Amino acid sequence: MTTNFLDAYSIQYWLESCPQGYLEETEFGHEPNQKEPELVLQDPMMREQAIRLTTQLVAGERCALAASSGLINAAPDEASKRFLATQTLDEARHVEIFTQRLYDLGVKKDELETVIAEKTNPNLAQFAEILLEKVDKKDFVAGVVGQNIILEGMAFTVFEMLEASNRDLNSKFAKTLSGTIADERRHVGFGENRIGALIREFPEKKPEIERMQRDMSYFMLATFADQFRDGQAREEMQHAREQAGGGAANWQGANLATMEPEEMEGLLADTVLGEFKKRLDRVGIEYQTPTRP
Ligand SMILES: [Fe+2]
Ligand SMILES: [Fe+2]
Repeated sequence: MTTNFLDAYSIQYWLESCPQGYLEETEFGHEPNQKEPELVLQDPMMREQAIRLTTQLVAGERCALAASSGLINAAPDEASKRFLATQTLDEARHVEIFTQRLYDLGVKKDELETVIAEKTNPNLAQFAEILLEKVDKKDFVAGVVGQNIILEGMAFTVFEMLEASNRDLNSKFAKTLSGTIADERRHVGFGENRIGALIREFPEKKPEIERMQRDMSYFMLATFADQFRDGQAREEMQHAREQAGGGAANWQGANLATMEPEEMEGLLADTVLGEFKKRLDRVGIEYQTPTRP
C-alpha cells in the first residue's frame, strides 16, 4: 500500500482494493451460495435476536451514510471530498447489505421501516444524533472525529467481535462482516491521517470535540448495557448462545462462547474505549472518560 495521502485515499485506490479486490464476486457482501443457517431461520428467538442485532447495524450505517455524504461539502480540500465520496458509497453499501440481511431473515419489504423504528436502540439513536448535529452545522473537524474515529472505531470493534463469534456458526454473516471491516479500516485510517493536521490548525476546537467524544461514548456504553444487561435483548442473546452450543470463538484473547454477558460487555467496552484513546492521542485530542451507565 502506498503511504502518500493523495494516493492512499484516491478513487483509483478504492476501485482496485475494494470493488475489484475483496468484494469481487460477492453478492450483498457474501458468496452467492451462502445462506442464513436453518437454525437461525427456524428458531423464533434466534431469528428475533438476529433481526434486532441487524437493525442496530442498519441504524448505525444509515447514520454513517448521512455523515459521510454530509461532510463532502464541508471538506476543505479536494482529496478529502473524493475520499468521502468513496466512503459514501461504502456506507450506502453497508446499509444495503444489512437491510438485505433483514429481508433474508424474513422481514417483509413493507415492514422494514416499522421494524427499524421499533427495534433501534434509543441510546444508539442519541449517539447518532450528536454526530449528525455537527454534520448539519458543516463542522468538518468535529464531524470527522465523530464519524471516522468515534462511530467507526465503535463499528470496527463491534464488527470484529461479531465476525469472530459468527465465523463457525454463520459463514454468510461472517463474510458480510469481513468486507465491512475492511472498509471501516480504510475509513478509520482516513480520520486519523486527515484530522491530526486540522486539529493543529484549529486548536480552539478541542474542548468542543472532547465534549462530543465523551457524550457519544456515554450513549455507546448505554447501548451496550441495554444489549448485555437485562431485558429481551439479553434473553435472546443468551438463548442464541445456548443454541449455538458453545464452540470456541476467540477474540481479544478470550473465548466469547463461554463468557458471561457482563464479561462480554466489559471486554467490548474496554476494547472500544482503548481504541478511542489510542486514536485520539494520535490526532492530539485528549480522551475524556465517559460516565458508566
Ligand atoms: Fe459502515
Ligand atoms: Fe465506515
